[in-house]
Amino acid sequence: MGKKVTVVGAGFYGSTTAQRLAEYDVFDTVVITDIVEGKPAGLALDLNQSRAVEGFETKVVGATTGPNGEGYEAIEGSDVVVITAGLPRKPGMSRMDLLETNAKIVRQVAENVAKYAPNAVVIVVSNPLDEMTALAQLATQFPKNRVLGQAGMLDTARFTNFVAEALEVPVKSVKTLTLGSHGDTMVPVPSQSTVNGKPLRDAMPAAQIEELVVKTRNGGAEVVALLKTGSAYYAPSAAAARMARAVAEDSGAVMPVCAWVDGEFGISGVYLGVEAEIGAEGVKRVVETELDADELASLKAAAEAVRAKQADVASM
Ligand code: LAC
Repeated sequence: MGKKVTVVGAGFYGSTTAQRLAEYDVFDTVVITDIVEGKPAGLALDLNQSRAVEGFETKVVGATTGPNGEGYEAIEGSDVVVITAGLPRKPGMSRMDLLETNAKIVRQVAENVAKYAPNAVVIVVSNPLDEMTALAQLATQFPKNRVLGQAGMLDTARFTNFVAEALEVPVKSVKTLTLGSHGDTMVPVPSQSTVNGKPLRDAMPAAQIEELVVKTRNGGAEVVALLKTGSAYYAPSAAAARMARAVAEDSGAVMPVCAWVDGEFGISGVYLGVEAEIGAEGVKRVVETELDADELASLKAAAEAVRAKQADVASM
C-alpha cells in the first residue's frame, strides 16, 4: 500500500517539509495541517499545481484542525507524522524560552496523533527539541522507538557546511557529526569528523574547529537574528524530510537523531541526540558511536542536562 505522511503545522518549516516530501515522489499522500483556516488547503492546492512541472504523483491534502481535534480525521492511516507545531524563536530568545508555550501545543497535537494515527512513527521538530520529543512520547504513549526528534542531522549539516566553507572544499568531501542536545549542550564529535577521509583534526587547528563548533551551536540563532520573524527552515526541513523518508522506505539509514537512550554509552532513560538506524518502526537501534574520552564525558553531561528538563515536561 502507498505511504502516507502528515506534517502538522503549515508555517515555513512545515510547508517546506511538505514540499520536499511531495517532491521525493515516494509517498501516496502528504497531509499538511494547521489551525489557521484555509492555509493548509491553500498550500496543498498550490503544491498539487506544481506536480506537472516538478513531475511528482504524490497528492497533497490540506486540513485545518480545531481545538477539540476537529479535522484530524485527515491524518488517519499516516505512516509518519512530523510535528512542527509551536512557536519559533524571536531574536534573542533561546530554544528553552519556548518550553511552556510549545509544551501546551505539542501535547494537544500529540494526543490527537495518538487518537487518529495510532500506528504512526512520530518525528518531532518543535523546540526545545529534546524536551518536546520526550513530551510527545508521554502524550502519545507510543513505544519510545516510535517517537524521535530531528536535530542532529541539522546541526551536523551546519557543521559540515561551515567546515567545507572554511577549507574551500566540496561539501561532499566533508563528514562531521554532532550529538547531545539541540541547544547549549550540543556535542560536536571531531574524532568522527573527516575531510576527504582524513581526520578533521589534521585539516585545521583545534582553535578553528572550536570556532566552527561555536558557529554551529549558534547556527539557528544566527538565522533567527537575520530573519527577525521566525527561525530557519530550509536546512531543518531538509533534515526532517530525510528522516520521514527513511521511515517510509524502511531504509535502515544511520542518522544523528534525538532518540530514547537506554543503556547505550552508559546513559539510561533519556531522549538524547545520538546516531540511530532509522526504519519502519522508527528507531531500529541506537548506534554506539566510538567517542573519545572528552566527547563521551560531554555526551553524558548533555544527557544529565536534558534529563532534568525532560522531567519538567511531564507536568506541562
Ligand atoms: C534551528 C531551529 C529550527 O536550529 O531549532 O534552526
